[in-house]
Amino acid sequence: MTDRYAVFGNPLGHSKSPIIHARFAAETGEDLTYGKVEAPVDGFEAALRQFIAGGGSGCNVTAPFKLEAFALATAMTPEAAMAGATNTLRFTDGGIEAHNTDGVGLLADVERILRAPLRGKRALMLGAGGAARGAVLPFLDAAPAAFVMINRTPSKAQAIRDELLAAGHHGLSLADFDTTDRFDVVINATSASLTGECPAIPSRAFEGCELAYELAYAKGLTPFLSRARDADVRTLADGVGMLVGQAAVAFEWWRGVRPTIRNLIETLSIPLERPARQLP
Ligand code: ATR
Repeated sequence: MTDRYAVFGNPLGHSKSPIIHARFAAETGEDLTYGKVEAPVDGFEAALRQFIAGGGSGCNVTAPFKLEAFALATAMTPEAAMAGATNTLRFTDGGIEAHNTDGVGLLADVERILRAPLRGKRALMLGAGGAARGAVLPFLDAAPAAFVMINRTPSKAQAIRDELLAAGHHGLSLADFDTTDRFDVVINATSASLTGECPAIPSRAFEGCELAYELAYAKGLTPFLSRARDADVRTLADGVGMLVGQAAVAFEWWRGVRPTIRNLIETLSIPLERPARQLP
């Protein structure tokens, strides 16, 4: 029987998830359909329960339902627990299991597609909101020599570090914008680009930097990426690879098969100005 999946969100007009999952299903030969459910803003739970009752196997969840979906979960992965939000659910025997695939998807893009393995490298994450939370565990697992978080509101980064320590995860350091440290990889996990702003960046962060990564996608050369380009950072990337990567991790979690992501990232990429996203 054909299994059913969907993305839940509101609005969903822009969602590329159905195209991405249709490509994954075609590539792997998995028998599934993947649709869109634009639930009313106050009707997520009812729409989700209806989908489950109708035989749905799993779903992705996007704004504004990621926190509500998390609250409905009966089990969750460590990534979802750390993020306090979920973008991927699967349904089992009356239960709702929550995952957060954003961070693992980001890491797949950084390490496998952009060829910037983090092991032994120095990574800086700007931001301490939901997106940053989703990424911290996979980043720590990648064993960087240093993993530093800086946020406009330092107490939020401190809270993330405290939660990690309480759960036995060491390795996240905090710094302020005055640091003169240099980094191999700098990730903009703030939402500043959505309003055309640039987060504050420590003065020497980009010196000798390999990769500047903007989590937002299809926004062109954002102020953050422009600053990186002006500082001669070797590779600039936007979040299109994370978009495809998080979908691939969700697909594998549901189906047990890992689809390839490189071609789809190339297809969906909007070229940045020099140096463009490089796909070695
Ligand atoms: P998301 O789900 O996209 O992570 P969020 O949870 O609202 O959204 O978090 C937004 C992040 O971007 C926060 O780290 C926020 O900093 P504060 O904690 O100080 O609010 C950061 N951010 C948003 N606009 C910013 C700006 N103009 N400059 C610097 N940081 C900004």
